[in-house]
Amino acid sequence: MKGKTIVLGVCGGIAAYKAAALCSKLTQAGAKVHVVMTESATKLVGPVTFQALSHEAVRVDTFDELDPGVISHIDLADRADAVVVAPATANMLAKMATGIADDMLSTILLATTAPVFAAPAMNVHMYGHPATQANLAVLRERGVEFIEPGVGQLACGYVGKGRMEEPEKIVEFLKERFAAMETPRPLSGKKVLVTAGGTVERLDPVRYFTNDSSGKMGFALAEAARDHGAEVTLIAARVSEPLPAGVQVVRVTSALDMEEAVLSRYADADLVIKAAAVADYRPAETAPQKIKKTGDTLQVTLVKNPDILEELGRRKDRQFLIGFAAETDGLEKHAMDKLHRKNCDLVVGNDVSREAAGFGTDTNIVTVFDKEGPVLELPVLSKRETAERILRLAEERMSAGERAADACGGRV
Ligand code: PMT
Repeated sequence: MKGKTIVLGVCGGIAAYKAAALCSKLTQAGAKVHVVMTESATKLVGPVTFQALSHEAVRVDTFDELDPGVISHIDLADRADAVVVAPATANMLAKMATGIADDMLSTILLATTAPVFAAPAMNVHMYGHPATQANLAVLRERGVEFIEPGVGQLACGYVGKGRMEEPEKIVEFLKERFAAMETPRPLSGKKVLVTAGGTVERLDPVRYFTNDSSGKMGFALAEAARDHGAEVTLIAARVSEPLPAGVQVVRVTSALDMEEAVLSRYADADLVIKAAAVADYRPAETAPQKIKKTGDTLQVTLVKNPDILEELGRRKDRQFLIGFAAETDGLEKHAMDKLHRKNCDLVVGNDVSREAAGFGTDTNIVTVFDKEGPVLELPVLSKRETAERILRLAEERMSAGERAADACGGRV
């Protein structure tokens, strides 16, 4: 915490009293704390309390400029190493989600590029309300990290989820996050492109062909790459899971959409992982109107989709390319065939006929192949742990490639 500048946003919830303890603990831990209160927060705790604890002037009014040399909301937004909103009320979360900037704190939140952490606190029904949950989902997707509220007796008399986390726990959480931000990570400075989900190939306005991919494997890879420090772009087709936070998401529908989205970003990518289940064929025509029931049979002509991974393999210059192989038999034979045909560095084979592996499950059982054959055989693991292991292997191979390139003064 030493030397960190933290903007502590205090909103008008009864938990504002806990924010005083948080301010004190952050200051004691060595952080420079600038408290910004909403007008409502000042009705619950006086600004002087925070001023005494932080040894800094407390801001409430956007137009109350203390230093004529700067515009204070921009200055604070720029100087912050982190903005911590505690308590974060339902109202402030709604403003953050919609980009409303009508007071000092919400304006700073819109202007800052620093990491934002929020500790929600409110009545259990307000927390569970679909509007609040939707706002939390939007903010999570944009990279805001939440310090989850606890369950217990609330000031309003209800018992349930909505209590702001204890100040000590918030300080611990922030210390860990700062430590993680400062530790050099294996994919720092790298751009990673991940595909996830199943493509949708439309037959008519109400029918389509797709597959059982939930997106879980691709999401786990995107999250692991994000946590390894990469700038991640996730190309997501049809998925049934909430989108991961802290990655750039591009939604696509069909294999053709995915092809365009992937190819247009390929030149910049360092690592590409194709976990998506891409339809090999699509209807030759998409009927503009619902196809009517006529005879006893209906013939649909399917035409071949482009093989995106194969095209990436053809265009590959410096990218590290990982394909997946979803098989029900002959895993090694088919995975090796795909690896060579699509010019991949690694192929992750999963036998999707096995329980606990493949489509829709929270776990997977994979064998990773390189040009020589199997190199990593993993037991049943969560998709997140599977993703970690795949990434570690890719990172080793990528840095070995970079070292070899350096040794011969260019690319290999
Ligand atoms: O999403 P989940 O429910 O978590 O399920 C995970 C998964 C089973 C979808 C995943 O682990 C997986 O195996 N993904 C690849 C599925 C697949 O399409 O495999 P394939 O063997 O048909 O294709 C081989 C590779 O070529 C894949 O990397 C695929 O993305 C790519 N491909 C395939 C066809 C095509 N037209 N273009 C492609 O790029």
